[in-house]
Amino acid sequence: MLWSNDFLLSTAMTQPVMAHTIAIMSFTVQQSTGSKAAQYDELIAQARSLLSDETDRIANAANFSALVYHTLPDLNWSGFYFFDGVELVVGPFQGKPACVRIALGKGVCGTAAQTRLTQVVQDVHAFPGHIACDSASQSEVVVPLVAKDGSLAGVWDVDSPSVGRFDADDAKGMEALCQVFMELAWEPRASA
Ligand code: SME
Repeated sequence: MLWSNDFLLSTAMTQPVMAHTIAIMSFTVQQSTGSKAAQYDELIAQARSLLSDETDRIANAANFSALVYHTLPDLNWSGFYFFDGVELVVGPFQGKPACVRIALGKGVCGTAAQTRLTQVVQDVHAFPGHIACDSASQSEVVVPLVAKDGSLAGVWDVDSPSVGRFDADDAKGMEALCQVFMELAWEPRASA
């Protein structure tokens, strides 16, 4: 079986189709309720499991976004902006349709990309130049994604409809999560 993490994924049905066997997966995620440290520990283990058998970046970015969105409480957007060599371009995400292109240095995402520092914004209305893609967003955390060779891959952006949703523990947890993404979904790997 391709995916075998019992606590995260279960095989709902396996049926033979012509000469092939297709595994139809059902995906089970539960919203975390423990301490933030426990929530991120669990998420990191789940992300590692979810990404480890797949090498396609888009597939992994999409599933990573969905995992975080449906596991952490009080979010209204989670997703990627990838750097195309000139600016940030929206990648796989969960939530409402978002601004497509963000210049380096602009908004929270462009600031994280340019400074290469995680941005924790308690109140987006107090952040000069904040780009409002979804008017429901009140707070935000953005982690820069930097490859091993030092190049900018993009940013990981998570929004909440609550002011003050994210703190230093979230920054630390999101950075650890992003390390898993970069290791398993971005850096070249031997075939899975
Ligand atoms: N608020 C971000 C833009 C991206 S959306 O939140 C999805 C920013 O200021 O860069």
